Amino acid sequence: MRTEIDGLRALIRHHERKYYIENHPEISDTEFDVLMKRLEALEAASGAPIPPDSPTQRVGGGAVLGTRIPHRNPMLSLNNSYDAQELREFGERVQRLLEDVPAEYATELKIDGLGVSLIYEDGVFVRGLTRGDGEYGEDITDNLRTIRSVPLRLLETETRVPAVLEVRGEVFIPKDRLNAINEARETAGEPLFANPRNAAAGSLRLQDASITASRPLDIFVYNLNYVEGFEFETHTESLEQMKRWGLKCNPHTACHKSIEEVQHYYEQWVKKRHDLPYETDGIVVKVDRFSYQHELGATSKYPRWAIAYKFNAQRATTTIEKIEIQVGRTGVLTPVAILKPVVLAGATITHATLHNEQEIQAKDVRVGDRIVLERAGDVIPKIVEVLTADRTGDEVAFVFPDRCPICDMPVKRTEGEVAVRCVDVGCVAQLKRRIAHYASRNALQIEGLGPATIDQLVDNDMVGDVADLYALEVKPLSKLERMGVPSAGNLVHQIEQSKTAPVEKVLFGLGIFHVGETVAELLIERFLSLDALSEATVEEIQSVDGIGPQIAESVVNFFSQSQSLLEKLRQAGLYCFTIAAASTRSEASDGADSFFSGKTFVVTGSLEGMTRTEASKEIKARGGRVTSSVTSKTDYLIAGEGAGSKYAKAVELDIPILTETDFFQKLEQRDAE
Ligand code: IVH
Repeated sequence: MRTEIDGLRALIRHHERKYYIENHPEISDTEFDVLMKRLEALEAASGAPIPPDSPTQRVGGGAVLGTRIPHRNPMLSLNNSYDAQELREFGERVQRLLEDVPAEYATELKIDGLGVSLIYEDGVFVRGLTRGDGEYGEDITDNLRTIRSVPLRLLETETRVPAVLEVRGEVFIPKDRLNAINEARETAGEPLFANPRNAAAGSLRLQDASITASRPLDIFVYNLNYVEGFEFETHTESLEQMKRWGLKCNPHTACHKSIEEVQHYYEQWVKKRHDLPYETDGIVVKVDRFSYQHELGATSKYPRWAIAYKFNAQRATTTIEKIEIQVGRTGVLTPVAILKPVVLAGATITHATLHNEQEIQAKDVRVGDRIVLERAGDVIPKIVEVLTADRTGDEVAFVFPDRCPICDMPVKRTEGEVAVRCVDVGCVAQLKRRIAHYASRNALQIEGLGPATIDQLVDNDMVGDVADLYALEVKPLSKLERMGVPSAGNLVHQIEQSKTAPVEKVLFGLGIFHVGETVAELLIERFLSLDALSEATVEEIQSVDGIGPQIAESVVNFFSQSQSLLEKLRQAGLYCFTIAAASTRSEASDGADSFFSGKTFVVTGSLEGMTRTEASKEIKARGGRVTSSVTSKTDYLIAGEGAGSKYAKAVELDIPILTETDFFQKLEQRDAE
């Protein structure tokens, strides 16, 4: 029976590949189903454990979806270009940085879906993550397993498989399948997906993998991110090898000797892209040679060796029905045009920002005007033109309010600033926005805390600042509209989880004026803790590279007014206060005789209480060294959750392993002295 089972598994894998990856089925669906049923029956009868890479195991598993897991290296986004000139500038920059050594460019289609990372160990698919915030992704392994074009096991026919392989790709839903999904959703009374991309994203986040399995998801793998035991000279070569391993790569790739050729490839696809069965929003241009890619490196957001070259924005005409004012978390009043719904680039658009009072005046936008909307790539639609020739005379000019529409306090206009602000500290609109920002994905990432819930929390006086979130209890929460005990329980759990967020995320989440993600990271790199930062002077803050006087003043100003908020967060038990306190103290000591001093560490897996970067800082502050790979020179491996190949290597080399708890104890030992 064993051999028949093995034979069937191989045969089914073969047909899956033919059907889902190569688009060349060799047998009918019914024949395929017969094979599958036979395998299921044999597996059940044998009583032996079924390996996770058996074709019968696409739905099941039971891993916890949504766990945050660090990416091996950041999952970057792409810088965009929109015309031939911007493309040429990219080419010139590349050539300048490479000191005119001629580079070749690989081009491919930019698939409009959801970026994911797939990890194979010894040829078996073990983990899949979303992009998340780029540093940490969400575990969506079980949902990715349901995608038939994601091989559960790599092909080993032509070459051996690597011990570890990490690839990145785009999950998408074919254009024509969206209608079918939406029809089914309409019947079920569920909200419709506005475009294939949202449908793909929504499907990958489902808690129930069997529902994901019913969605027609597909994938194209576009980058080899990490491999052990193989070397490739170019991206093109790596794509070829990934195909040999049975991964599904897009066939429309090319390689060019000049930027002019790239422009030609782009122009061809401008015409042909509508014939493709999936959405593309541009092409991606990559410097082909890996050694050049390394030389060019990356900024904090984008690689310098690649760029997206977007297809032209799509336009639509509609009418402004109303202009409303929204109050942001810093009190800025933003006018928003409420539009007669119009479909644009696959999404239904109902409003567009008008930015500020001046913009309305400059464009002379009036209620009732016909306007031209543009949606470039996936950015929020913008009004590019007012069709003044279409005016009937019934249009009404908009009068910008002198009072906050939410709290009715007078607004403030500052000389030299376009923004009009509500300066009332008690304004609930601002509070709601601050909470939303605190909970947002790149800050504390509290899922399930959406605008509707925040509205209720604030309106029912359950939350007066972000620290109050930590006092919320399941019972009163469950009484809110559209809540119930399970969601309330989940929300409390999510809020509790957020306590472990790294200090830079908390700092960003506080929503200090001018403190975006990058600034928050810079500040923490220098000051290490919120306490230290809150004691810093404008001059000290300004002395950090990349921080100007405006930011410094804003930070000092914030902390001078927010000591009680900080205290409440500390009482709530946010990890960043305890950990950062430890590291600040250790900064003061010289670290020469600490446990860490002179030793070499490798940090792997995800730590609950801090990021790996923070952990490295702690070690370095105490005189230790941190390297990225485990060798015989490594003194200790610090292994967090989900440690993989490095863990195995350390065991093999007999290198002592510290758990997160051990590591924290070592950190504190020294701090307590
Ligand atoms: S390369 C560092 N290639 O577009 C390399 N990305 O707007 C980064 N995307 O996050 C990505 N098709 O999810 C690359 N052929 C392709 C792509 C592609 C779609 C997505 C990807 C990325 C986003 C950036």
